[in-house]
Amino acid sequence: MLRSHTCGELRAEHVGDETTIIGWINAIRDHGGLRFVDLRDRYGCIQVTVSPDSLAGQSLDSLRSEQVLQVKGKVEARPDGMKNPRLDTGDVEVVAITATIIGDCPPLPFDPSGGDQVNEELRFQYRFIDMRRDEVRQRFQLRSDLQHAIRCHLHKQDFIDLETPILTKSTPEGARDFLVPSRLNPGEFYALPQSPQIFKQIFMVAGFDRYMQVVRCFRDEDLRADRQPEFTQLDIEMACVEESDVIALIEGLVVDVIRTVTGKEVATPFPSFSYADAMQRYGTDSPDLRSDLELVDVSDLVSQLGFKVFSSAIEEGGSVRAIRVPGGGAWSRKQIESLEDVVKNQGAGGLAWFKRTEDGTAGSISRFLQGEASSQLLDRVCMEVGDLCCLVADRSNKVVNGSLSFLRKELAIRLEQIEPGALEFCWVKEFPLFVEDEASGRPTPCHHPFTAPHPDDLERLEDEPLTVRALAYDLVLNGFEVAGGSIRIHQRELQERVFEAIGLNQEEAQEKFSFLLDALRYGAPPHGGIALGLDRLAMVLAGVDSIREMIAFPKTQRGTCLLTGAPGQVSGEQLSEVGLQLEESEPDESS
Ligand code: AMO
Repeated sequence: MLRSHTCGELRAEHVGDETTIIGWINAIRDHGGLRFVDLRDRYGCIQVTVSPDSLAGQSLDSLRSEQVLQVKGKVEARPDGMKNPRLDTGDVEVVAITATIIGDCPPLPFDPSGGDQVNEELRFQYRFIDMRRDEVRQRFQLRSDLQHAIRCHLHKQDFIDLETPILTKSTPEGARDFLVPSRLNPGEFYALPQSPQIFKQIFMVAGFDRYMQVVRCFRDEDLRADRQPEFTQLDIEMACVEESDVIALIEGLVVDVIRTVTGKEVATPFPSFSYADAMQRYGTDSPDLRSDLELVDVSDLVSQLGFKVFSSAIEEGGSVRAIRVPGGGAWSRKQIESLEDVVKNQGAGGLAWFKRTEDGTAGSISRFLQGEASSQLLDRVCMEVGDLCCLVADRSNKVVNGSLSFLRKELAIRLEQIEPGALEFCWVKEFPLFVEDEASGRPTPCHHPFTAPHPDDLERLEDEPLTVRALAYDLVLNGFEVAGGSIRIHQRELQERVFEAIGLNQEEAQEKFSFLLDALRYGAPPHGGIALGLDRLAMVLAGVDSIREMIAFPKTQRGTCLLTGAPGQVSGEQLSEVGLQLEESEPDESS
């Protein structure tokens, strides 16, 4: 046996026992002729006393941080005054009879005690060192516990865990596909799944009425702090359900797993907003409810103030919206003006603002604030003396909403509204079924083309498709979309109408999705489902800012893996086996 105990296991009751432990050297303290070595593994840390005799002739100076040491020795009680209450093993130490360096280690490329602040590239290149840190280990334990708790909960509720192919056909989730050439079918390609959407619907037709899978998904899209090209979903589909059934299941699941994993209690039912309401009140479809700040549309009032920036934005079809900042009147001009960058970064031309004072108003637009419209504005925004009001005007409502939703986040931080550890969930429902594709001007699915239209809006599907709502819902946690799902179309005729609306004629639809359309003909029950972004949920539960921290071997912003160096080149032979040839690349003129 290479070890008899782990480094976290020994207690006072082991005093007098012989032990063999293996761990990484966490710290070394020089005690004259002896070294006190803190030996660490996944389970904890223990102090070992190493003498020159125990090192079989090697000098004590050969001990270095992060070497793997095997120690055979005796467990002894630490004398009073030498106990370490911060360590679970702090009442005892191991006095080494033999200590052997069984895994040497050169000087480290970075200092792990620097935490997450250490250069991210180095941390991910040497992820095996980064992962030895306690906080990183705890994050992966949390992720593992989360998956375990999810499986336990769902299995108790009769869900069956089924796998779906990774080498498959294009699945429409709105991103680009990753393609894999087929050696056996030269010139043909598999696509990696953006999600198992179609397969899980086919499981419903097959009669597996409650399906789940923890599954890797692949999307070739621009990366952000909460997005990776490969990520993990908890994928769920249920037959014979309505929206409220899926929502109730997810609330029950989320409350149970969060209790199990973090000990926190989350109240249900979660607040719920229509998409239109969320955009109106928060400027985004993923509102962070840890802040109570809201946006207020003041377009009708400010158009009469004689301020050109406002009136022309409105004339050009845009809007003017405001956020009241309670107590923000105490902020200096410099502090307020520093908020302008936040909205400018989101495309707004600038930030207008005023404070309500004892004598009236003060600030960048106060000279326009006169008359009835002005007092109505103060009322509508609920401005009290000492408050600040921030306004953005633009001819694009997307810019107004986008910039104010970012401003709202920044204000919430400055107002210290973001309580550490708080978990605020909400549902956003009634998404539009389609959005207008900017390039083609055509309706394109807001979620995916298998989402059922709202029954009340069905008659507008052909004539006014952009006004049709969907039976789709997102779950939002602290401002992050952590899950998205919908009730599906289960009648082939309706599915064909939706394909038609997005410009796919029958032949094209057949060519792309014949396997689903066929399945829908052969006895498809009503069904719906959802997919939860596991990495994102874990990120919020762990309280970290980037999804990369919750993925063992994440990709960089450019989609590369720092550990393996992927993606990499392949040999000409490998390319010709799959019938591919690379284009000559253009000479680089900059070099
Ligand atoms: P959707 O596209 O909304 O729905 O994805 C579901 C959830 O997966 C997470 N997610 C991501 N996480 C990290 N990196 C990404 N690139 C990424 N993209 C998505 C989000 C998101 O809410 N088939 C449907 C589900 C359904 O209708 O049942 C789907 O995939 O947390």
